[in-house]
Amino acid sequence: MFPRGRKLLLGVAGGISAYKSCDLLRRLQDEGFIVDVVPTQASLNFVGKATWEALSGRKVITDLWSEVENVPHISMAKENNIIVIAPTTADLLAKLASGRADDLLTNIVLASTAPKILVPAMHPEMWSNAATIQNVKILQDRGFTVITPGEGRMTGSDFGVGRYPETSNIIAEVNKHLPQLADLLGRKILITAGGTREPIDPIRFIGNRSSGKQGFALAVAAASRGAQVHLVTANTDLPNVEGITTTLVETAEQMSAVLELEFPHSDALIMSAAVADAKVASYSEAKIRKESLDRVDLAKNPDILKLLSANKKLNQVIIGFAAETSEDLVMLEESGRTKLASKSLDLIYVNNVSNGAVFGSDFTQGLIIDRSMNVIKVPEISKDTLSDILLDQLVSKLG
Ligand code: CTP
Repeated sequence: MFPRGRKLLLGVAGGISAYKSCDLLRRLQDEGFIVDVVPTQASLNFVGKATWEALSGRKVITDLWSEVENVPHISMAKENNIIVIAPTTADLLAKLASGRADDLLTNIVLASTAPKILVPAMHPEMWSNAATIQNVKILQDRGFTVITPGEGRMTGSDFGVGRYPETSNIIAEVNKHLPQLADLLGRKILITAGGTREPIDPIRFIGNRSSGKQGFALAVAAASRGAQVHLVTANTDLPNVEGITTTLVETAEQMSAVLELEFPHSDALIMSAAVADAKVASYSEAKIRKESLDRVDLAKNPDILKLLSANKKLNQVIIGFAAETSEDLVMLEESGRTKLASKSLDLIYVNNVSNGAVFGSDFTQGLIIDRSMNVIKVPEISKDTLSDILLDQLVSKLG
């Protein structure tokens, strides 16, 4: 269910900073990676197998002689899109530089063609030793990425370069090395973001809490995969993104007018905006005095998705969103299915936005439902990651 390029192997060598890789593992999962942990025998003195199994939620194999029937060193080398070894000890650097393969991790590294990122952590004297310097150079020449350790206090009283780097630096390096996809090259994708506002008078409006973060994340992800993106955004605080055509609107009617014009020559529409279902029946040009504010008559707005899907061409794809206020997965699924059918969508993402979750947040969780009623449960992940998951689905639906 995760986007291609999101299976990661985390090797852990026997250094005291192995405990920091527990947090690295968690943060990688937040980024949507499925992580297989392969600890070396020495590292189990610092963090045990049970911890890695509990944190990764996956079986952990620690030697070459388990599950031999699955040939794990070859299957894991093939399955994983990227290998990160954190910490990498001086000994492991030496082993890798001489191409040795005497345990599960070194066998996997030798058998894998995936990008490999090494995160050395050791005492400054060991890091600056000529042997280590030469081993790092050999590995870099062979295409390994070696992150320079941080500077600061060591386990003992000594000070210098050799510390396990910040988790965010390691993750940034991982993201740089992910296989770049260009599977939306030549596609025109229309995306909506934010929340519409319906003016009551020159001062007041009916609005909603959508921040636009999900729509912007989708636009950036689609553009980076080669799509020509047109983003129609309503009332967000987010700055325009270079390279993405952006149209600003305020009301549902304005959004509808732009989409009616743009959708016929787009390959897909992703409707992540929160559209106000109603507007005031008659807008007041003058400020309404408080004495007359005890009621505001409303009139229904058009259901934009219904309008557009009624005239959709066979090869066009429409993805809708649904904001619900229930934690009950059965209810979420039911509501998603109903909206998918009533709006003739190809796919819908249903999320529970109660208690301030999702709106304004960088994270989301929910359900993806398609026309064949396949349901994917999305655990809490970043909106960037959800964007890639939805775009993977879009690519397969575009055919
Ligand atoms: N939507 C739309 N036009 C509207 C209202 C919603 O196109 N007038 C779109 C939203 O952008 C979203 C999907 O329809 O992609 C579902 O929106 P949601 O607010 O969850 O559902 P509604 O159809 O408005 O139903 P309700 O508010 O009763 O839950």
